[in-house]
Amino acid sequence: MASSDVLTLPPQQGFGATRRTDIWWLQPLGAFLGFSAFIFYSTWAALQGTNQAVCYFWYGGGGADYLSPYYSPPMFGVPSHPGWFGTIPPGWPSWLPFSPAFLIAWIPAGFRFTCYYYRGQYYKAFWLDPVACTVGEPRKVYLGERYLPLILQNIHRYFFYLAALFIVILARDAWDGLWFTAADGSRHFGLAVGSLVLIVNVILLALYTFGCHSFRHLIGGFLDAKTKSPGCASLYNCASCLNRKHGNWAWYSLFWVGFTDVYIRLCAMGIWHDYRLF
Ligand code: FES
Repeated sequence: MASSDVLTLPPQQGFGATRRTDIWWLQPLGAFLGFSAFIFYSTWAALQGTNQAVCYFWYGGGGADYLSPYYSPPMFGVPSHPGWFGTIPPGWPSWLPFSPAFLIAWIPAGFRFTCYYYRGQYYKAFWLDPVACTVGEPRKVYLGERYLPLILQNIHRYFFYLAALFIVILARDAWDGLWFTAADGSRHFGLAVGSLVLIVNVILLALYTFGCHSFRHLIGGFLDAKTKSPGCASLYNCASCLNRKHGNWAWYSLFWVGFTDVYIRLCAMGIWHDYRLF
């Protein structure tokens, strides 16, 4: 290449400076508000489990069996609805409040926090680094994710294994939501609005989870080449198909998992009525 062909990059712009004329700040602002609302609500909902006297994360009215995804799997519960291992882990310090959600929340939270799509979103929305494409950023040096603490984002693939397990658990919860206990103790297959809420929840979470980059690599990728196995190649193509809309599935599933908790909570509080279809 002749020296005259070498391109020089324009000087770095000051923070926030840009030639963009569109409303570029709308998307990071929307992400900031969306994430903030979800984090605020989820923290509040998880802390409600510290009140051992009430159980608003499970609804059993009309013979239903709906468990909030924030509290699933039900390892621990409250006296009125104990989990597999009772209500509080043995040896839990009495001065420290305990909610069954504490043992669960870190998995979906870690999975989303380290997700490649979310990283792109919250680096812009919360860290303003950069706030948007071709908009001046607050620092002059780009370090990427090669150093601590951001190199820890590579743990994402391990969170994927746990998140995939959660899909199985939530599918089981959705199945339980299709069975209703009659007054004589017999169980009947049925469908109510709450059943649909739980089914949509696991479907959206599966569409998000199995569009994960780590899953694509796991089933269809080697270091720098695609798998030669036709079965794995098909799965890879399915994951790629989901991956193209990964951001959409990320938002839809985020909203719906919060809504599922709201639905069950309001039914359990007697504010909403769960309509039985059959
Ligand atoms: S990249 Fe988004 S969930 Fe893995």
